[in-house]
Amino acid sequence: MAIAIALFVIVVGSVLFHVLTPWWVTPIASNWSKMDHTLAITVIICGIFFVVINLFVVYTLWRFRHREGARAAYEPENHKLERWLIGITTVGIVALLAPGLVVYADYVTPPDNAMVLEVVGQQWQWRFRFPGEDGKLGGSDARFVKADNPLGLDPADKAGQDDIVVLGNEVHLPVNKPVKVLLRSHDALHDFYVPHFRARMNIVPGMVSSFWFTPTQVGKFESMCAQLCGVGHPNMRGLVVVEEPAGYQAWLARQTTFQQSVAAARRGEGEAGNLVGRGQMLAQSKGCVACHSVDGSKSVGPTWKDLLGKTEHLEDGTSAVVDEAFLARFIRDPKPIKGFPPVMPKMELSDDELAALVAYIKSLKG
Ligand code: CUA
Repeated sequence: MAIAIALFVIVVGSVLFHVLTPWWVTPIASNWSKMDHTLAITVIICGIFFVVINLFVVYTLWRFRHREGARAAYEPENHKLERWLIGITTVGIVALLAPGLVVYADYVTPPDNAMVLEVVGQQWQWRFRFPGEDGKLGGSDARFVKADNPLGLDPADKAGQDDIVVLGNEVHLPVNKPVKVLLRSHDALHDFYVPHFRARMNIVPGMVSSFWFTPTQVGKFESMCAQLCGVGHPNMRGLVVVEEPAGYQAWLARQTTFQQSVAAARRGEGEAGNLVGRGQMLAQSKGCVACHSVDGSKSVGPTWKDLLGKTEHLEDGTSAVVDEAFLARFIRDPKPIKGFPPVMPKMELSDDELAALVAYIKSLKG
């Protein structure tokens, strides 16, 4: 009897919790209200099965409880009951699966007038690319990835020269314009997810996945990575800024094309003094900026702002003043530092690259 009462309390409690829950879904800001409907159908069907099955168990526990002299009837088969159970279960499962299949088919079939946005995930940051004036994205391949080409665009592909490359976790989109999103990863599994848009997709290394959505509200929406992709995973957050078309065009005009960014990098390398610029690019392409802020804000690793001259306490009990020699040694062969998780990988850098990176960190003082 105690189990029957406990089950009954669980059923009533679950239903009440669902109705009175303090947690609400974020307001929707895209065309995908179908996602919410599909979820609601799932919750309702599962909820009905949950309540009916548990109440049935409560009833049988009470109705057939142990009584002196009572005997159970032996009934190994009941075809009528089996047909009913198979029928109801089939209807339930079809109702659970079918709406999802219909919505998913729509989700991966963008309308013809959709603009294209490429999202590239890397431990632990986001980058974005738009096709340039020709409306076509250039080809890309992991073997083209370099400090001045972190997205690995094919330098020989004409279609890629005018592509607009956005380094950093923030991207802008025009309101009410369908967007076809193409996703690539440089390393592990990631998942680009914007809760307000009800839109997300896994990003699998070696393949391009895609979905589409239409942002319907102007505003700033947080994007995040929804696949555990390593210790910096919670750091993989970004911002999608949805604007009126004019604001979006103005933002887009401020971005650089692939050709411009490569030319700027070449110029930088040509100037003997411009180690700092090269170091900044390396910090981007090697993913350093995912864990080290440059504005003093807290992150996975120590901020680079005013890092030179600071005293760091190492886990082995020693401490050291951060100077150029310490930085160069540390970047090649990191040691755990007190107060930070021991997750810094050994960086494979040439002597030139190391000098550039140190020069960049040094430039962030004062
Ligand atoms: Cu990328 Cu989690």
